[in-house]
Amino acid sequence: MDYEATVVALDVGTSKVVALVGEVDRADGSVRIVGKGVAPTTGLKKGQVINIDQTVTSIRSAVAAAETTSGLRLEAAVVAVGGNHIESRNSRGMVAVSGQQREVGREDVERAKEVARSVSIPANRDLLHIIPRDFIVDGQEGVNDPIGMTALRLEVETLLVHGGATPIQNLSKCIRLADVRVDELVVSGLASAEAVLTETERELGVAVADIGAGTTDLALFIEGSPFHAAVLPLGGSHVTNDVAIGLKTTIGIAERLKVEAGSADPRLIDPTEQISLALADELEGRMPYRLELAEVIEARMREIFEKIGEEIERGGPNQRLPAGLVLTGGGALLAGAADLGREVLQLPVRVAAPGGIGGLTDGLIDPRFATSVGLLRWAVRYDGSAEPNRFETAPVGGMADRVRTWLGRLFP
Ligand SMILES: Nc1ncnc2c1ncn2[C@@H]1O[C@H](COP(=O)(O)OP(=O)(O)OP(=O)(O)O)[C@@H](O)[C@H]1O
Ligand SMILES: [Mg+2]
Repeated sequence: MDYEATVVALDVGTSKVVALVGEVDRADGSVRIVGKGVAPTTGLKKGQVINIDQTVTSIRSAVAAAETTSGLRLEAAVVAVGGNHIESRNSRGMVAVSGQQREVGREDVERAKEVARSVSIPANRDLLHIIPRDFIVDGQEGVNDPIGMTALRLEVETLLVHGGATPIQNLSKCIRLADVRVDELVVSGLASAEAVLTETERELGVAVADIGAGTTDLALFIEGSPFHAAVLPLGGSHVTNDVAIGLKTTIGIAERLKVEAGSADPRLIDPTEQISLALADELEGRMPYRLELAEVIEARMREIFEKIGEEIERGGPNQRLPAGLVLTGGGALLAGAADLGREVLQLPVRVAAPGGIGGLTDGLIDPRFATSVGLLRWAVRYDGSAEPNRFETAPVGGMADRVRTWLGRLFP
């Protein structure tokens, strides 16, 4: 096997920074992990940097660990962007096909995308992605790759994803201060989707929710492409806070109670069962019922699922999601989460850990690493290096274009 391209992923989350180094097999695009580093974070709140120094220290320590395991110096990385400032909208661009033969060329596709991106986005926001979802050629919808087709009119349906300029600058600044260049910014939810969704789910229609510590990243897909992305300012740390208040204890003990004895679905709990002795010691001898704990957790998790449901409605009330909801992120490890999700949303729900990687995967096949693994897979799927604008990471056209871009990168 011949490993060529090296890709670095950096996910600066509310609870941890993850740096991963992947080597991409030039034959089939598969990713082998050769380096990884994880460090706890204290400088973020709800996915956004609130303390530069603390965040830089965490990034440095995760990067140093990834450098040690890989034996490589990490110069640039594909970086995840989270936070409640992320928003998306659909936009359509239409152009007359130029050229005498009326054959759609790459320039026509670029012009159509330019028109789609020209919708007004407030000045204090950065456009992160322009993702072509569908091409319409002389009114005919569902064209994957219009290049070479004869037509008078070309339309492109795109998803524009944008975020607040200030939080994006602060994140980029922390990464630069840790001596890493930001190669590309990818919205966390779209990265997580790369790691956990199957192609069939994407085609059928599916939602992915990455429940982290401070936020829940959401992305909705239909016919293979994302049509809505959003971030809810709620995550596992809110559940932990509720447990601390409800059971009158510290955040540290509440976190242990949640992870070791918690459940989002009180229906699964024996009402006579008490919290185990080891945990009761931490609670100074008190032995609350597990049901009490589960009821506190359920209330907050129900709210999170209700908000996910509202966001699915906002994404398109008429869009159906036959493949349901795929849950990932650390919050998806909570016992009973999928059961509660099914009850609230009336959709199929499954919990997923990231897949599609080889090499040093120890500990990485875990929902907490969906975003970081997904960044590596994103870099393979949407190779942005041929794009003039580094923030524009979408493929130029359909599958054929992606393959061309990919081959161009492998055999420059
Ligand atoms: N076994 C478990 N059971 C329940 N919750 C868990 C478990 N393991 C981790 N968590 C929760 O998952 C959350 C951390 O998830 P994750 O590592 O995905 O967050 P993050 O990426 O750092 O944060 P964010 O994406 O919000 O910026 C914490 O709130 C933690 O309590
Ligand atoms: Mg996260």
